[in-house]
Amino acid sequence: MFVCICKAVTEEEVHQHFDDGADNADAVGERCGAGLGCGTCVERLNEILCSRSLGSRTAA
Ligand code: FES
Repeated sequence: MFVCICKAVTEEEVHQHFDDGADNADAVGERCGAGLGCGTCVERLNEILCSRSLGSRTAA
């Protein structure tokens, strides 16, 4: 599924950029252009990052 229509970036690609060290939407944009067009996908990029952060939390 495409996250960024303007740059044809898939959710899988976004996860790969986060895996490779991107730590925010701007960093993903620098790597693949996502979010640098109309900007509609920036919120989704942030949601993906947030969901990854929540998923990596460990139980106290
Ligand atoms: S949908 Fe990503 S910049 Fe337009």
